Formats: sequence, C-alpha cells, structure tokens
Amino acid sequence: MTTHAAAPLPLADLLPISAGLTPGGHLALGGCDTVELARRFGTPLYVYDAETLRAQCRGYVQAFSDEYPESTVLYASKAYLSRPFARLVASEGLGFDAVSGGELEVLRAAGVAMGRVYLHGNSKESWELELAVRSGVGRIVIDNEDEIPLLGEIASRAGVRQGVLLRLSPGVDAHTHEKTTTGILDSKFGVPVETGAAERALAAALEQPALELHGLHMHLGSPIVELAPFELGIAVMADFAADVCRDRFGVEVREFSPGGGFAVGYRDGDPVPEPSAYARAIAAAVRREWGERGLPLPRISVEPGRSIAARAGVALYHVGARKVVPGVRTFVSVNGGMADNVRPAMYGSRYEALSAERPTAAPEETVTIAGKYCESGDVLLRDASLPRLRRGELLAVPASGAYQLSMSSNYNLSYRPAVVLVEGGEARLIRRRERASDLMALDVDEGAAAEGSGGGSAGGE
Ligand code: LLP
Repeated sequence: MTTHAAAPLPLADLLPISAGLTPGGHLALGGCDTVELARRFGTPLYVYDAETLRAQCRGYVQAFSDEYPESTVLYASKAYLSRPFARLVASEGLGFDAVSGGELEVLRAAGVAMGRVYLHGNSKESWELELAVRSGVGRIVIDNEDEIPLLGEIASRAGVRQGVLLRLSPGVDAHTHEKTTTGILDSKFGVPVETGAAERALAAALEQPALELHGLHMHLGSPIVELAPFELGIAVMADFAADVCRDRFGVEVREFSPGGGFAVGYRDGDPVPEPSAYARAIAAAVRREWGERGLPLPRISVEPGRSIAARAGVALYHVGARKVVPGVRTFVSVNGGMADNVRPAMYGSRYEALSAERPTAAPEETVTIAGKYCESGDVLLRDASLPRLRRGELLAVPASGAYQLSMSSNYNLSYRPAVVLVEGGEARLIRRRERASDLMALDVDEGAAAEGSGGGSAGGE
C-alpha cells in the first residue's frame, strides 16, 4: 500500500515520522492502514513505528556523540519494555537503564549485553541486587546510604568487583510535575548533597572492597523542558567532584550521568528542545564546570526513556457511547482509558487525538473523550476539538509510546491491549491482547472445574 506524502496531515509533529494517508484517506503508520490494523488486531491497539523508534535512538546517539564523544546513551526501560522492543533498541547501539528485577529479566531474555545495563532504584531488594550482580550489569546506581553495605556484601559473596555510580540529589528544581520531580531535597531519590549525606555515602562506598566507584549520577525529573536545571545540577555535581571526591578523598570522577527526562511533544505546538539542544547544553556545562575546577573530563551517560519511545507509539481506540449534557459537556467514550493510559488521571497529562478514518476532517465540536473504566477521573482528553465522531469510528492518540503500556493495569479486569510493530507496510504482532484466561492464570483456585476464555471487545488475532 502506498501513502500520499503530499496530503497535509494534522498533528504531523506528534505522529510517527512514517505517518501518512492511505489512498482512501485513512491514517497510515509504517505503510499500514490503521483501520486495517484495528480490524485485524482489535482495539485498544498500540502501534509502534519501527522507523521512528530507530530515528529517535539514532538521534540521541548522534547528538551526544557529536557534542561529547565520550558518551553512552542508555534507554530508560521503564518508559516501555518488551523483548522485541529491547532488541530493536539494542541494535541501535544503546544500553539500558533498568529499575527492577523484572526489567533485568526481560533484558536478559532479550539477549541484551548486560554490561550495558545500569540498575537503578530507591528500594532495590536483595534478590534484585543479587540478580544484577550475578548477571553482570555494568553499573548499579547507589541511591541511598542504606544499600551500600548490603550491595558490598552481595558483590563480595559473588566474588565480583561491581561497578557503581553514586546518585546524588543536587537540590535543583527542574519545574516538572510534582509527582515526577526528583532532584529536590524533599525527594525519595538520591543522596542529598546539602545535608552531608552524600559525603558519608561516598566514604562508605569507597570502604567496600567489592565495589568499584566509577562516578556520580543525578536525575532531576521528567519531562524537563528547560535546559537551565541541567546546567545548575551539573555545577553542583562538579563542586562535589572537586571539593569532596578529589580534595577530600583523592578519587577521580571518571563517569558522570545527568540522567534523563528529555521532553517530547504531546500537544500541537508544545515547546520541546531537540536532542541536539540537550546534548549541547549538557556537554558545554560538563566541559565548563569540570574544566573550571581543573578536573579531568568524565565519560558521560544519559538515560532518555520518553524521548525514545513516546513518538513512536500511537494508541487506537474505537468510539462508543456519546452523552450530551446540554450546556455542560459532551462526553464521547472510547473502549480504553486509564487502564492503558493512566497519565491523564495521574498527572493531568494532556494529549491530542484525531479520527484515524478521516484524519484531515475539520473539527466540528469540542468534546471530552472519556475512558471506559469505572471512575469519573477516567478521562483521556478534555475539551478536544474533533469532527463529530460516530460510534465505531477509530480514534488515534499520538505520542502514546512511553509510560502508557508500562504503567497499564487490569483495572475492572480489562484485557491489556495488543501491540504491533509496523514498518514498510508490514505489521508484526509483538504482544497479543490479553484474554480472560490470562486474568485467571495466576489464581490459585483449586475448586475451579473449567476455565473461561474470551478475547478483547473488538476481537483480533
Ligand atoms: N533516569 C532515571 C533515573 C529515571 O528515574 C527516569 C525516569 C529516567 C532516566 C527516564 O526519564 P525520561 O527520559 O523517560 O523522561 N511515569 C511518568 C514518568 C516517570 C519517570 C520516572 N523516571 C510519566 O508518565 O510522565
């Protein structure tokens, strides 16, 4: 199938780069007609465009290697992870940031080189540290003083000298949503610099013979639209590298990570710095702040998650009931919602939507797109300008590739969506839709005689 490149497509900056129109005027992704995809795989459906995913990976690798050749890009797996996804990202040369035993297991099963994996977490359990050490992760990022002796002992028992970074909390406000800000003093993440805890943690880490401290880490929050917080944070880290690491302990910070948190566009016209702008600001700040203190330049690693995955993913829903409350609001319900995308309910996140069947149709009304779950807060889009949607029409929500499926649930015992990867007119199912038997598979119900079965509301493979 060919797509009409010439036809103007609304929300083109939010949709995957392969988005276009089919000859019949439907939204096409990766050369596939989304209406066909919905028919074949059912809805809600998450469609990932391989071309966009590769382009985002390359864009970050390129931007950082141009600005700072001694750099590594790690994909933050929490944004979305599955084995096929991990393989695609790894094939572009990225490493991974993991935050749980589960993410480590999926990365291992995907055949990712574990030396390119960093383990994070403010509450890592012994079994997770054990798994990380024994599977040979490149770095474990120490998040608090408490885990240092525990990790030291686990590494020593395993006969491993484990590479670690120390995550500091620099006391910088990145002006993100309060639920996703992490660099301030009042945060559960990182060892605070200003209370003196960071210095104690450094001393404790250096005392552990089975830990090899490579350097320092910070992560300020997500998404960060301004560049200044990175610069402020880097200055705090450089002070610590000079005054504490070098001057008091005689250790060199060979590696530094400014974390991730790079923004993406969710709505038309959202101001979003390019990867090159983040890379330039970070590289310049590291050179300046390290240079001014006479410190040898560190290797840097960055951890983009959202900015790799978000734009590559589009959520497709079928439209259901319409409810008009005269003079108040028109609700148009879809067959997904907070179980596959909790972000609007949790953070008040705003999105755009378009009819996948007639993406170029002019807006006719302002409606609220409501999810199907049993909660008034389950609203996907507030006050969206859309053509008058019909029952059964296919609705597409761009920028759905990050923190949607990875935060999804079975609320109301719903079936989590299928996921397809599209490219060159081919669609590959990389996760099938859940069914009733999946919901019951983990019950320990000895009295059960027979198991039910069933598929998604819109069927599909
Ligand atoms: N590095 C660390 C240590 C992190 O904690 C995070 C995200 C990242 C990197 C990646 O941040 P990104 O580049 O994806 O912005 N659920 C929220 C986002 C939580 C982010 C948690 N940590 C959301 O849906 O917006």
